Amino acid sequence: MHLFNLKIIKKQYLALGMLVFVVLFLFNSKPAFQCQLTPDSSAYLPTIYGITPTYARLAQKADLTRLSQTLMLVKNFHWIVIEDSASKTKLVENLLKESNLKYTHLNVKTDKPKGSSASGVEQRNMALDWLRGHLRSPEGTPGVVFFMDDDNTYALKIFDEMRKIKRVGVWPVGIVGGMRVEMPLVTDGKVSGYNAVWKPYRPFPIDMAGFAINATLFLDFPEAKFSRKVQSGFQESEILKYVVTQQELEPLAENCTKVYVWHTRTQKPSIISPKKLKKPLVPDNHIEV
Ligand SMILES: *[C@@H]1O[C@H](CO)[C@@H](O)[C@H](O)[C@H]1NC(C)=O
Ligand SMILES: *[C@@H]1O[C@H](CO)[C@@H](O)[C@H](O)[C@H]1NC(C)=O
Repeated sequence: MHLFNLKIIKKQYLALGMLVFVVLFLFNSKPAFQCQLTPDSSAYLPTIYGITPTYARLAQKADLTRLSQTLMLVKNFHWIVIEDSASKTKLVENLLKESNLKYTHLNVKTDKPKGSSASGVEQRNMALDWLRGHLRSPEGTPGVVFFMDDDNTYALKIFDEMRKIKRVGVWPVGIVGGMRVEMPLVTDGKVSGYNAVWKPYRPFPIDMAGFAINATLFLDFPEAKFSRKVQSGFQESEILKYVVTQQELEPLAENCTKVYVWHTRTQKPSIISPKKLKKPLVPDNHIEV
């Protein structure tokens, strides 16, 4: 009799336990279920096409490693890397492969005419040509174009911001043009001027890191490109003049009050020439740095 009672009690506990389990299961699975209902939300996430010219130098791999590891955290990102060289290097090729990023690797050697100091002109133009072909192809996905130096510093927030772009988005850039921050000035949600001291007479006194362009505009304006004919510091104005007016600029990063990108520059490393050493070094040429 006593044992029988215990069995009943055990069964009741078991039933109660199962009920709790079922309730917990339903409760828990709800968010997961909702997530499954909207797997397409990422399909609407605009692609970010990052265009990065790069050239061989001692700190190149360090810079590209840092940048690629930032980009690994960005969704729907397509990295277009253009080497300033007659052929693609193993260093960049391997770095891209190992990054698991979606990328396109291109190369074009700059043949700088005398008196032109601008860098990246041919490389960025080649990337834009490639992009136009890609956008017209079935694989092309809509999105935005961001010109990214390989040694700048990018907060992940800047990528969230640029996906809101309708035409051209702008934001402040830290540590550039002799300023703590160079930025568009915003009045009533519109760009009303710029806080810039370096060549403030530029049509768009903005750094390359301070804007992104809706990729579709490169199809609408097939002639839009960078140029060697403009004076130094005018590349940004050159590309922007094709696709946007100041009135149309969309201020992002909380009406241009936040810094999410910095124009950091890697110092040129000074290496002691082995010829100057008294004791010869163990050869290290076989090691990629
Ligand atoms: C870019 O422009 C296209 C066509 O006007 C538009 O559908 C899209 O929402 C715009 N923005 C982004 C981030 O793609
Ligand atoms: C930017 O400013 C406009 C106009 O003052 C305002 O309506 C809007 O909410 C602001 N946006 C942000 C993100 O702060």
